[in-house]
Amino acid sequence: MRIAILLSCLLVVQFSAKAQYNTLWIPDTLSGTNFNLVLKDTFAQLRTGNQTITAGVNGAFWGPTLFVNKGDVVHMNVYNKLNDSTTIHWHGFHLPAVMDGGPHQIIPPGTLWQPYWKITNQASTYWYHPHLHEMTQEHMTKGLGGFIIVRDAEEAALLLPRTYGVDDIPLAITSRRYTTANQFVYTNTAYGDYVLTNGTPDAAVNLPKQVVRLRILNAETERAYNFGFSDNRTFYVIGNDGGLLNAPVSVTRLKLGVGERAEILVDLSNVAVGSSLDLKAYNSGQAFGFPGAEPGTSGEFGSLLNNKDFTVLHINVKATTAKPVTAIPSTLVNNTYLTAADASVSRSLTITGGQPAGNPFVFDNKAFEFNTINKTLDVNTTEKWTVTNTNIFSHAFHIHDVQFKIISRSTGAVGQYESGWKDVFYIAINETVNFVARFADYADPIHPFMYHCHFGNHEDEGMMGQFVVKGTTSTSDVANPLNYALFPNPANDRLYIQLADENAEVYYVTIFNTNGKAVMMLPQPQIQQGFDISALPQGAYSIQIMEKETKAVSTKKFVKL
Ligand code: C2O
Ligand code: CU
Ligand code: CU
Repeated sequence: MRIAILLSCLLVVQFSAKAQYNTLWIPDTLSGTNFNLVLKDTFAQLRTGNQTITAGVNGAFWGPTLFVNKGDVVHMNVYNKLNDSTTIHWHGFHLPAVMDGGPHQIIPPGTLWQPYWKITNQASTYWYHPHLHEMTQEHMTKGLGGFIIVRDAEEAALLLPRTYGVDDIPLAITSRRYTTANQFVYTNTAYGDYVLTNGTPDAAVNLPKQVVRLRILNAETERAYNFGFSDNRTFYVIGNDGGLLNAPVSVTRLKLGVGERAEILVDLSNVAVGSSLDLKAYNSGQAFGFPGAEPGTSGEFGSLLNNKDFTVLHINVKATTAKPVTAIPSTLVNNTYLTAADASVSRSLTITGGQPAGNPFVFDNKAFEFNTINKTLDVNTTEKWTVTNTNIFSHAFHIHDVQFKIISRSTGAVGQYESGWKDVFYIAINETVNFVARFADYADPIHPFMYHCHFGNHEDEGMMGQFVVKGTTSTSDVANPLNYALFPNPANDRLYIQLADENAEVYYVTIFNTNGKAVMMLPQPQIQQGFDISALPQGAYSIQIMEKETKAVSTKKFVKL
């Protein structure tokens, strides 16, 4: 008996000495209505030996978590200090297309892009990430991205854990493949070999002995996750991509495809302080088509993690906090979901492959073309979309501008765990998924929104299409191009424009330096407030103003003191 205890102690010691964990990095937070995001090429120490060349937002890998309130107008100051052009997309948000940060809102290096919009999304976990066509996989692999957490009154009224970093933990889960010199591989690779949880390899976190909330994002290129806990405990899905569910849904496993988020509650009150458990990917034994089920360990579709169960987060249970949440709520919020009967337009999309040659995965036999608008929708219309996968693999379908409701899956019932507001869904081989969405508020005949597979490699290879939302107003009789005056000129910190025609609307303002390089890009600026040019170096500039209806541009010069 004593020998057995001694032996098991030795085994435990040996095992824990072998498992080397690093403290989970909790991204810094920014809150308010004005957010400064600086994109930079940098380095991170992710492995022993060489540092890895990365890119981050205000840091070395990934970026700060932005806390925003429903109803607020938020202003983003995105300063691209990378050596490359990129874009930053606000994934999951309902906003004007020109603010969306899709492939058309390119931010050249050295340029400040200043989109803003009113938060109308419900409390949930969203994210921002780069979206430059054919560069998305590379820019995301380097580490660009971050969480956006929306708060609202309905969520605030519930007894839920919400102390960030203590009982409310964001988890961006991804994996990377490295060269022998510790550099990221981002070509001809669908899967990483090593997990990164918030950029931390072999991550461990201390969590209190009580109900905790995990906000999980699948931030992979292609891999799907079948999450569960090492003791097979039940946990509770409380939120989907775009909001809380009507009531918690109890599960022991939860699948998340790329781009999907879930908020879960885990009750740790039955775990002894000082003991541990793991959040794991139970990815072994999945059917072909589950991304990461492929058997190989190397090559484009192989990985050291494929077809395996592996740990994504080691959890050490610590003492209960002063004000713990101790129960799983029985109900959450009252959602009024869209139904098929609400839709006045139906359209379908087919996931195809092989046509045209060279694009393995496309929509309707047509690869993405930058200047082709695939669909034109009417604003304030509710539509039913039918997506059919005739393809040889599964995908993660995502659409911009809206949160939708999945109404049916041809392979069976829609899971309770995905019964809420969604902006991404997993679609299996030979499956048809129907969803209903309302394309409200924002019309723009020029800037499109995207729909695409969220696998970074698939979207870069052309598995993407675009739609414009058409308005109902007739074209204006505004003078074209705009007549306006600039003042003061020279200007010190604020530059104002005075429009000759007060009915005219400015669609876009771009400020160029004398080399013709864009230094500031201001979509639909609020011109009464002027433009903050205090960060520009002294010198001569030109300002280009685009009129909203005609998109005609006119240019004037000014001097910054
Ligand atoms: Cu998360 Cu079109 O993107
Ligand atoms: Cu998106
Ligand atoms: Cu795909």
